[in-house]
Amino acid sequence: MIIERVYRPRQFDLSGLKGISDRTLETHFKLYEGYVEQTNLLGEKIAGFLKDGKIDHEEMPAYSELTRRLGFEYNGMVLHEYYFGNLKRGGGGDAPAGSGFPRAAEESFGRYEIWKADFVGVGKMRGVGWAICYQDPVNGRLSNHWITLHEVGNVSGFTPLLVMDVWEHAYLLDYKPAERPKYIDAFFANVDWQAVEARLRGGPREASQERAAG
Ligand SMILES: [Fe+2]
Repeated sequence: MIIERVYRPRQFDLSGLKGISDRTLETHFKLYEGYVEQTNLLGEKIAGFLKDGKIDHEEMPAYSELTRRLGFEYNGMVLHEYYFGNLKRGGGGDAPAGSGFPRAAEESFGRYEIWKADFVGVGKMRGVGWAICYQDPVNGRLSNHWITLHEVGNVSGFTPLLVMDVWEHAYLLDYKPAERPKYIDAFFANVDWQAVEARLRGGPREASQERAAG
């Protein structure tokens, strides 16, 4: 079967981050590429079932299983792109005072520090997944969410502004499993606040353009 490559892995130049080693990133890029490949592969297999214009009764179990996996693979691909896309060499610190993100955080949480305490708290939750700060495109409000694996807990239509991978593979070469707080500090030491700001201004359309541009 020839896999139609609907999606291609994006390239990210992230060497030299603070507290997240190049070795970790190399491993992580490979994992990300695996999600892109699996997304393409699933699409191809499902298209195979649909070739004759119908799902035969005996095809239903395999078709269902593959279709259920789409959420895992698609989100595995997309969330890694958001994650790598909100890191940069020379980034870090807190969101620049007076910019849109801290303003939105203040409006939603009272104070920026409260937003950050919540986001960090979500990142420290036990389990394998992601901490994501979303913006509701309807009223502009920010909220922090825990995502189990890649697909459980995402809010449809909300815009991911800041995405932090807290699967152990994101830091295991640099920190012990119990040292996730150190990794979270390292994450904040490299955040690309300009990228976050661009997502905030543009909403969902800008985010999808960012993906398409890669
Ligand atoms: Fe990851």
